[in-house]
Amino acid sequence: MDSILILDFGSQYTQLIARKVRELNIYCEIHPYNKIPELTPSIKGVIFSGSPFSVNAADAPIPNMEGIKGKLPLLGVCYGAQYLAKWGGGKVQQSKIREYGRANLQFVDNSSPLMKDIPVGSQVWMSHGDTIEVIPDNYKCICSTDNVKFAGYKIEGEETYAIQFHPEVHHSLDGLTLLKNFVVDICHCAQDWTPASFVETTVAELKAKLGNDRVILGLSGGVDSSVAAVLLQKAIGDNLHCIFVDNGLLRKNEFESVLQSYKDMGLNVKGVDASQRFYDALAGLTDPEQKRKAIGKTFVDVFDAESQKVENAKWLGQGTIYPDVIESSSVKGPSQTIKSHHNVGGLPDYMKLQLVEPLRLLFKDEVRRVGRQMGMKEELIGRHPFPGPGLAIRCLGEITPEKLRVLRDADDIFIQGLRDWDLYDKIWQAGVILLPIQSVGVMGDERTYENVVALRAVHSVDGMTADWVHLPYDFMAKVSNDIINRVKGVNRVCYDISSKPPATIEWE
Ligand code: XMP
Repeated sequence: MDSILILDFGSQYTQLIARKVRELNIYCEIHPYNKIPELTPSIKGVIFSGSPFSVNAADAPIPNMEGIKGKLPLLGVCYGAQYLAKWGGGKVQQSKIREYGRANLQFVDNSSPLMKDIPVGSQVWMSHGDTIEVIPDNYKCICSTDNVKFAGYKIEGEETYAIQFHPEVHHSLDGLTLLKNFVVDICHCAQDWTPASFVETTVAELKAKLGNDRVILGLSGGVDSSVAAVLLQKAIGDNLHCIFVDNGLLRKNEFESVLQSYKDMGLNVKGVDASQRFYDALAGLTDPEQKRKAIGKTFVDVFDAESQKVENAKWLGQGTIYPDVIESSSVKGPSQTIKSHHNVGGLPDYMKLQLVEPLRLLFKDEVRRVGRQMGMKEELIGRHPFPGPGLAIRCLGEITPEKLRVLRDADDIFIQGLRDWDLYDKIWQAGVILLPIQSVGVMGDERTYENVVALRAVHSVDGMTADWVHLPYDFMAKVSNDIINRVKGVNRVCYDISSKPPATIEWE
């Protein structure tokens, strides 16, 4: 399959370039600029990303361009453009004016294949401290803004192009056209990377790789593990043994309903009710990190015991997705741990299972498209993310079954309300948090002294940053009223209006 190689110089936008290329149904991979993979014939072109570095800094990233520049079509973006200009003998200097934010292309050379169908005046997004002052003689300017003369150029005699703006961000209004011009017209990639082709090739690869081997996979109820399971099931049928653990920290009726949908999908799945073990492990704990660790350890113990019952298992299936893969090999290295996230899976070394990760090349939105392609139900595909430690980190302080009951009932009203008001699918993630305080209220003629819950609903793309959702007042009024009237033990409802950063999505 045709593909594009994206070399990452550390820009915050590198993943966006990949997602845009994939949106064009063309496969691409991101690799750090200093770990270039073998240049196989399937690679039809290369993109150099932006970078927080200046090309003039002593420690500026320098790629090895052997086999790339002049050999394959190349597009330099921002730092990539500045690097190629400097490399050819041009001059890059700190910009005297701010080149950040929106700008418009005042000159566009539409005869250049990169600029086809991009109108004069097109809005682009700039984000750089340096600027190209002089380009070498054999470089030809192909677009400019009022402030940036060399907004884009081509190196004559080869298919090397560069632009100082970011076509991948949504504020560059013709950015997708520009990327399409590059990957389709200049690199001649076939646009055949579709969910259907992904399913077909992945199932064939899994069949070849796994043969008659048995695979164990832990289902969480989330999108990634569910889609991974369905792909594996298509390849090896009942040799896939799924384990779905009830940790007692799921939402109202979630275990039963999700287990039933797994069965309806024909998965070979075993539901294991281990709630009491989790409650015992959590008893007396109030510190969020200790709670997470207790849950992680109990999960491994339960999962381990269940896996041992599957004889001759050779593989462990996991729903790892592309951002996790890129993150662990990125230019900047794995990011600092703020909460001990995503460590809930993981098996002890002695189990000696090999890993099979059928989604490790996909972004989250692609996982959903693949799930839909395989006919999975929208209820499962469109679900909001839900943390591994579940309601334990939304029930602040110590966990008790009674507190979980209150939280579950309130959460159910909120989530059901979002669905009824057609808001659920417009929101990235939502839930209720039970606060560890009581407040005074009055119900009928009685004074009450009961719990406070907070509602949280956020927009986000990847969970790394998030903003609170401006929910309609009428909706909030209705939900607040319903919760206070119907959930015994709650007399006050608040709405969390903090963004991430500086807050986080979860409260613990
Ligand atoms: P925060 O609270 O860090 O959450 O803004 C970002 C995203 O990660 C989820 N989250 C977790 N997921 N184990 C998980 O599997 C965890 O311990 C965990 N903590 C937070 C959170 O729900 C949000 O989607």
